[in-house]
Amino acid sequence: MCGITGYVGEEEAAPLLYNGLKRMEYRGYDSAGIATISGNQLVVKKDAGKVAEINNYLDFLSMRGKIGIAHTRWATHGGVTKENAHPHVSCKIDVAVIHNGIIENHQQLKEALKADGHIFNSETDTEVIAHLLEKHAEKHKDSKRIVLETVKDLKGSFAFLAIFASDPETLIGARKDAPLAIGITRRGNFIASDILAFIDYTDRVIFLDNREIAVVKQDKVQIYNFAGRPVQKQITQVAWEAKDTSKAEFAHYTTKEIHEQPQTLKAALYQDQDKIKRFVEAVKQSEHVNITACGTSYHAGLVLRNLLARLAKIRSGITLSSEFAHDAELIGPDSLLIGLSQSGETADLLSAVADAKKKGAEVFSILNVVGSTLDRESALSLSINCGPEIGVAATKSFTGQLAIAYLLAFSVVDDMRRLSELRNIWKAVEEVLKQEDKVVDVADKYKDCNDFYFVGRGLHLPIALEGALKLKELAYNHAEGMAGGELKHGTLALIEEGTPVVVLNPEDETYDEMLSNASEMKARGARIIGVSNKPNQIYDEFIEIPKVDKLLYPLIEVIPLQMLAYHAAVLRKKDPDYPRNLAKSVTVK
Ligand code: M6R
Repeated sequence: MCGITGYVGEEEAAPLLYNGLKRMEYRGYDSAGIATISGNQLVVKKDAGKVAEINNYLDFLSMRGKIGIAHTRWATHGGVTKENAHPHVSCKIDVAVIHNGIIENHQQLKEALKADGHIFNSETDTEVIAHLLEKHAEKHKDSKRIVLETVKDLKGSFAFLAIFASDPETLIGARKDAPLAIGITRRGNFIASDILAFIDYTDRVIFLDNREIAVVKQDKVQIYNFAGRPVQKQITQVAWEAKDTSKAEFAHYTTKEIHEQPQTLKAALYQDQDKIKRFVEAVKQSEHVNITACGTSYHAGLVLRNLLARLAKIRSGITLSSEFAHDAELIGPDSLLIGLSQSGETADLLSAVADAKKKGAEVFSILNVVGSTLDRESALSLSINCGPEIGVAATKSFTGQLAIAYLLAFSVVDDMRRLSELRNIWKAVEEVLKQEDKVVDVADKYKDCNDFYFVGRGLHLPIALEGALKLKELAYNHAEGMAGGELKHGTLALIEEGTPVVVLNPEDETYDEMLSNASEMKARGARIIGVSNKPNQIYDEFIEIPKVDKLLYPLIEVIPLQMLAYHAAVLRKKDPDYPRNLAKSVTVK
């Protein structure tokens, strides 16, 4: 969940690292810090707060040295304080470390190190790594060997970078269950948890695998496994470009990403036909299709499950990845597991994938980040191609995942008419985006209501869940998404005068029943916000969407819900790009 980056090369490290920190701030944004080595002296600057604010008084950019590491934090162990911010140093201040992940045995390690005289300055699990490195440096001179000895002591998940004052030309990274990628340039090299950290300087990347360390110098990159044996790696040219990471004319990344959806939908549907054929065949042939994902990606998975059942009569199971270990008894060698993920690095999902592979299942995926761990763990993956998604709330990646779900389901049944409608759905999305003023009015009227309900049936239920999730995470209103038919089984008791209820009600087989639900709620005082292609007097507010094929409504009705959450956040003076307590990529379990 934290962002880590390091550089060694001909250039001054601090400005490159500072830029990387700003690019990675979406991974965690409660503290930040940089360590560099100049001569043989290690200097660390860090504090709690946002990167740019800290820079105003610590002046990261003035730090000297051609090697350095930098970290932006999302707290797991220890409060949000200067002491707990990374980098962490050893007692002699000759080793600095930054880390993403959780060291599960940090308590035992800390006790043992303290007994040996090490003095700790933070409450973090990470600090043990710095002291362990120092301990092993007493016996070994070679930085690579010191890191290899240290990883033997660690349990849990980690990606860490270390620099040594005694070896100022070497940057070392180690990876186990948390991502690390190396960016290669002619004038030096980077290691980071995220290619966005160095995308301004290079698109040539080496992805580390689990249980590998990278020994990186200005002109040389060597990879070893944890046993110390050299590993040969390919350099990949990544498709993202630096311009993809700008906000352009938009106030926030989140609104930029919402507005990009006509283009990103087209990009998602531009797929290698051979891969689609292989995916479709595997879905048709498999004894058991299972889907797994977290958060918004799970909602896309629900749509995929519904479409496969409804169109192709394929029964598939779907499990939240965090529940997979408790609910996947039926996974076996005849199963196909489909993982959905924007980042491809979500720890719960990767653990479900590992579990399924252990049981002999085949793993396919639908993801955004090519080269991510999920991509490399999958026998076949389809990329949604939506470019970097920087807003913490998933928006364009969700519609990208939906587009691929439709593409697969329509291909399974060879529905050429719907495939052609799908390819034109971006036009309807453009129409919906024109409703933004209406959505702003609605957001303004209801922004301070304590509770919101989002109600839908059938294919609209996952969108109701998604609308509620967006509002919770961006505007911090309590919100619940639910099936229309479930209201009378409990939730109706909570409807009172003025409660806003978003009713997803385009014209399809759910239309009449949803109108009845709307009436039941209105009779109890609810204010009905109707999202439909057809007006009705029952709606207190009406957000119009164009008429499209009845199966395709989810792709367009989610857009006003994303805009509602975004504008409610802005009107409530919350930062939509960096919601409190959240991070974009949840790489810890
Ligand atoms: O990268 P992933 O799609 O695997 O992430 C899954 C969830 O963490 C993610 O969708 C999360 O729920 C978003 N913040 C929702 O907007």
